[in-house]
Amino acid sequence: MSNAIYYYHSHSHSHNHTQLQFPRTSSSFSSNQISPRVFISQPLHNTTLTTSTSITVTNSNSHHTYTVPMGNETENNGFKLVGFENFVRTNPKSDLFAVKRFHHVEFWCSDATNAARRFSWGLGMPIVAKSDLSTGNLIHASYLLRSGDLNFLFSAPYSPSISATSTASTASIPTFDSSTCHSFTASHGLAVRAVALEVDNAETAFNTSVANGSKPVSKPILIDNRVVLSEVHLYGDVVLRYISYTNPIHISDPNPEFWFLPGFESESSYPNLDYGIRKLDHAVGNVPELTPAVKYVKSFTGFHEFAEFTAEDVGTSESGLNSVVLANNAETVLLPMNEPVYGTKRKSQIETYLEHNEGAGVQHLALVSEDIFRTLREMRQRSGVGGFEFMPSPPPTYYRNLKKRAGDVLSDEQMKECEELGILVDRDDQGTLLQIFTKPVGDRPTIFIEIIQRIGCMLKDEEGKLYQKGGCGGFGKGNFSELFKSIEEYEKTLESRRVA
Ligand SMILES: [Fe+2]
Repeated sequence: MSNAIYYYHSHSHSHNHTQLQFPRTSSSFSSNQISPRVFISQPLHNTTLTTSTSITVTNSNSHHTYTVPMGNETENNGFKLVGFENFVRTNPKSDLFAVKRFHHVEFWCSDATNAARRFSWGLGMPIVAKSDLSTGNLIHASYLLRSGDLNFLFSAPYSPSISATSTASTASIPTFDSSTCHSFTASHGLAVRAVALEVDNAETAFNTSVANGSKPVSKPILIDNRVVLSEVHLYGDVVLRYISYTNPIHISDPNPEFWFLPGFESESSYPNLDYGIRKLDHAVGNVPELTPAVKYVKSFTGFHEFAEFTAEDVGTSESGLNSVVLANNAETVLLPMNEPVYGTKRKSQIETYLEHNEGAGVQHLALVSEDIFRTLREMRQRSGVGGFEFMPSPPPTYYRNLKKRAGDVLSDEQMKECEELGILVDRDDQGTLLQIFTKPVGDRPTIFIEIIQRIGCMLKDEEGKLYQKGGCGGFGKGNFSELFKSIEEYEKTLESRRVA
C-alpha cells in the first residue's frame, strides 16, 4: 500500500481550517520535507467498515482498495482459549510498534453538550476543552472531559448544510464524518466510537497494523505539523485510533491545542469537579465470537494475552461469557474482549448487549480511582440527580464472607466501607481489586462504567520511582462465583425466616 500521509492544518485563529494534502515519498516524516504542492482535500471519510476481505477508503483525490488478509494464522497470532486454570501468564513483549498509553476515548452521540455534561457531573470530570461553533468548527461539536490522565471526548455532528457553507474543512477531528456518525448513533445509541492510544509514531503504527492484517479506517493525517492521527478497525463500528506528537514537549503545555489536539480551545466556565478518578484501566469489547476477534487484534498490534477466563472457570455457567484480556508490552493498555455463552439458565448479558447494540462494541470502561471510597461517596450522592446509578449491592452474606477472602489486605473499617458503598472485592495471585459497576449509562442495556482501585504489586522503575504493575488484582473473575454463592446463602436466610 502507499505510505502517503495526509497533512491537515487547523487555523484556529481564523476559524477556518484548511486541509492540505501532500503526496509523501519518505516513510519517516519530518516537517521540513513538506512538498510545496498544495491542494485542498476532503478528509478521509466514507470509510466502509465491513467484515468482508477488502475495504475501500476514498477521498476526493484518491481511491484506495486494501485487501485484508482475514484470519491469517501464524505462530505469532495463534490463539486458543484454554481457561483460567490452564492459562500461564507470560509477557513476551511482542508489541509490533511502540505504544505509550491510553490517550482518550471518544463517544459519538447526537447531542454532545448533554452527554458531556451528564458524564462530567456523574464522574467528576470537568469539561476542559471544546471544539464547536464557538471555535469555528462547523462540522462537529466536541467536548473534552479530563480527570487526571483520563480523557473522555463527546462528539456530535452539526447539520451538513451548515458545514457546507465553508469550502475548507473546519473539523478538529479530521476523521469525523457526519453521515457516518448519524448512522453510528442510529445503530448503537450513545456508544464509544474510538479508543485512542498514544503511540511513538502514528504513521508507523498504522502501516505496521495494516501490513499485519488490520482493516484501515483512516490513513495517517498530520495535523498542524505537530500531531499525527490514524485509525484502524477494532471491532464492530469501533476504531483503534493512534495519536503521536512530533514534539512531546507540547504535551506539558496547558493549552489543549498542544496537550490534546489542534483546534481545541480551553473551557473554564464549568466547575472544577474532582471525585478522584485518574485514568483508564481497561476498555472492554463485546464481540459475537472471541477467537477471531482476539486473533485479529493480536496479529496487528502484537499485544499478548494477559488473562482469560471461561464460563466454566467461575464455577457456574451463569456468567454467560468467555473473556480474554490483551495487553501491550508495559501492560498499561488492557483490551479485554468478551463473547456470549449460550444455553445458560439466564440469557447471557453479552448476548443482550449484542442485540441492543446491533453488534460488537465497547461494553465497559474501567476507570481507576485514587480513592474508591471517596469516588463512590461522591458518585452515589449524584445517582438520583443526574449522575450514574449502580448495580444492586451484593447481599450482607457477601460481606460476611469477605473477611476470609480479604481480611489480610483490608481493615475492618475498609470492609465496612465496601459494604456501605456496595464495592466488590477480588484478588489474583498478585494483588487485590476493588470494583463496582454502574447500570448501563444510556437508554439501552449496553455500555456501562466500572470504577476500580487496585491494591498491591508496587514495583520500582529504573529511576527508583514506584509504580503499580498493570492489571494488579485481576478483573473480578472471582466475583462471579462469590456473588452467586452469597446470593444463594442470602436466599436461604430469607427462606429460614419465612419458615420461622
Ligand atoms: Fe472490567
